[in-house]
Amino acid sequence: MPILNRDSFKDSASGDALPKLPLPSLSETLDRYLRCMKHLLTEQQFNKTQKIVKQFGAPGGVGELLQSKLAERREKKANWVYDYWLNDMYLNNRLALPVNSSPAMVFPQQNFKAPIDSLRFSAHLISGILEYKTFLDARALPLDYARGQLSGTPLCMEQYYRLFTSYRLPGPDRDTLVAQESSVMPEPEHIIVACKNQFFVLDVVINFRRLNERDLLTQLEKIAKMAGSEDEPVPPIGLLTSDGRTEWAEARSVLMRESTNRDSLDMIERCLCLVCLDEASGTEQSDTTRAAMMLHGGGPSMNGGNRWYDKPMQFIVGADGCCGVVCEHSPFEGIVLVQCTEYLLKYMIASPSKLVRAASVSELPAPRRLRWKCSPEIQKLLSSSADKLHRVVNNLDMNVHKFSDYGKEFIKKQKMSPDAYIQVALQLAYYRCHGRPVSTYESASTRRFQQGRVDNIRSATPEALAFVRAMTDRKFIPSDMEKMELLQCAINAQTKYTVLTITGMAIDNHLLGLREVAREMKIEKPEIFKDKAYLISNHFILSTSQVPTTVEMFCCYGPVVPNGYGACYNPQSDYIIFSVSSFHDSLQTCSAQFVKCLVQGLQDMMDLCKRCNCGPNPSEQRNNPAVEMQIQTETKDKTSQRTPDSTKSQQNTPEVLVKSPETTFVGPRIQEKR
Ligand code: COA
Repeated sequence: MPILNRDSFKDSASGDALPKLPLPSLSETLDRYLRCMKHLLTEQQFNKTQKIVKQFGAPGGVGELLQSKLAERREKKANWVYDYWLNDMYLNNRLALPVNSSPAMVFPQQNFKAPIDSLRFSAHLISGILEYKTFLDARALPLDYARGQLSGTPLCMEQYYRLFTSYRLPGPDRDTLVAQESSVMPEPEHIIVACKNQFFVLDVVINFRRLNERDLLTQLEKIAKMAGSEDEPVPPIGLLTSDGRTEWAEARSVLMRESTNRDSLDMIERCLCLVCLDEASGTEQSDTTRAAMMLHGGGPSMNGGNRWYDKPMQFIVGADGCCGVVCEHSPFEGIVLVQCTEYLLKYMIASPSKLVRAASVSELPAPRRLRWKCSPEIQKLLSSSADKLHRVVNNLDMNVHKFSDYGKEFIKKQKMSPDAYIQVALQLAYYRCHGRPVSTYESASTRRFQQGRVDNIRSATPEALAFVRAMTDRKFIPSDMEKMELLQCAINAQTKYTVLTITGMAIDNHLLGLREVAREMKIEKPEIFKDKAYLISNHFILSTSQVPTTVEMFCCYGPVVPNGYGACYNPQSDYIIFSVSSFHDSLQTCSAQFVKCLVQGLQDMMDLCKRCNCGPNPSEQRNNPAVEMQIQTETKDKTSQRTPDSTKSQQNTPEVLVKSPETTFVGPRIQEKR
């Protein structure tokens, strides 16, 4: 049963009708930058930064020159920041894709009773993919409209059309996102099925006919048999794709010397997607273990070699029912991934498997096993990749928690934005763990504009800091009413920044544009981008993202800096799923502690709301602009009296100490942004 109705489609693919991403004014961005950073720097650092920023923005200065170049660029391009952003966020990044870059969606646990069940599931899933692909090929997905803040505006659809047509080619300095532009593929389409570290070409169109589910099962059974019958040990070539990007680029050029390898690489690079038939992991299944399995495959001794990380869509079907999809992130955002996977899961629920019998009636050629010529040099590279993946696996500290005390309905009843509320709770959690605020990234969609991707909501606002201090300060204990006012202020500030970001007026992409334009003009890097404050501002210790779903599944990803947390959340009506990640080898982080502080903070915030709403409801007062103005002014005064500056704040005693005292890490392993 098709879920999408072709008749209701609009041609939404081009996005031409959408406005161009605006270019914020230089002075607005520089003012906001200072405001975002003041409480994250020492007084001395801030004073220095203030001078540098002033000089950069001075009339007739370098800032104005760069701004005028960006304005010219905006005239010429559909989206002035797109290329800069893509390179900076993904393609320039040399870190390995698993955990560091590729997010995953974890499907509900499947109950496979026999090996054939996982193959049936895969055949059904592939049927759904092929059905979805027909809508993509017709460039005929229904137009998405924004929900939540500023709802109702149409959104750019381009990311969808990259789901099954792109490939991230590794390069020595920078990767390339290769896109197959044509909707009509020149040759018959195929999927690559990974099984026992081997790769098989599953043609999905044979003799001009798209394979049905029964045919697909027949082919998958052949693959499973072939994978088990190989006498010689098969090199786990897929491991190479889990290595650092430069290492993989080098290994790929070694592989390319052999025509057999060139042919195999070509087949993988041109496939629609991968379906990875994984071995049972043998570990106890929980949301946390399944999330980790999706992110890294359990390492070389498990399913780590049963992957090809350059391919955007890798569906994983574990023999133990651990299923999901891991994605190369550069072509699209999590929201698009969710739309696609929700379609597939709904398709599978709504159209029960059509398999009547196991064997296909038609004679189909056996799927082709891809061969590799593996020189001693490649063997060496493989063992080095395996060692590194092993370390990645051991280093991931994952913690998935379903917070069931309440969900977004309770928050809405407080007349607060659920997203802003959760962000403030994350700030509280970090502060409780570590006793200081840190640079925070929250991805916000800019799909209201042509070629829109994301920009950053800087959630570590001064207002959030005032609130989290009020909630954690043991010496000065404010009244509930005061805390509530601070919470309202923090949520208002967060909501305001959200609106700023989704309307294209945030600072991160703008600063990136100014920096990159200077680089293109080959002028000396302006001081503002060499300043330590800029490094700190881009060292996102908290990398957060809302990825909501309407079917049972959740998203997860790794931290983006060595001493950071990845915190993905999925707010539902009466619960919220948090996927928190960090690295074991950081002395500063601990995912379980973070989750503990998060839960405590969410409970404290609920109690506060309940206590305050028993009397006059502050959130109702907020709806009166006159009262709001008065409260904000009062809060500002109180905040400035009560809250010490950032230098002092860093001496606050954290309520929970994690591993060891904090130090700000700005080291060479920095991956600056998600
Ligand atoms: N009182 C009552 N309800 C409110 C409210 C208030 N003060 N403020 C918001 N709400 C409601 C909204 O109307 C919305 O209702 P709906 O669920 O019926 O649509 C709901 O609460 C959620 O709104 P909110 O919590 O404010 O968040 P949002 O949906 O606007 O999301 C972002 C904010 C930033 C997450 C979103 O704009 C975005 O950009 N999402 C993409 C993030 C992304 O790219 N993730 C993937 C990265 S890989």
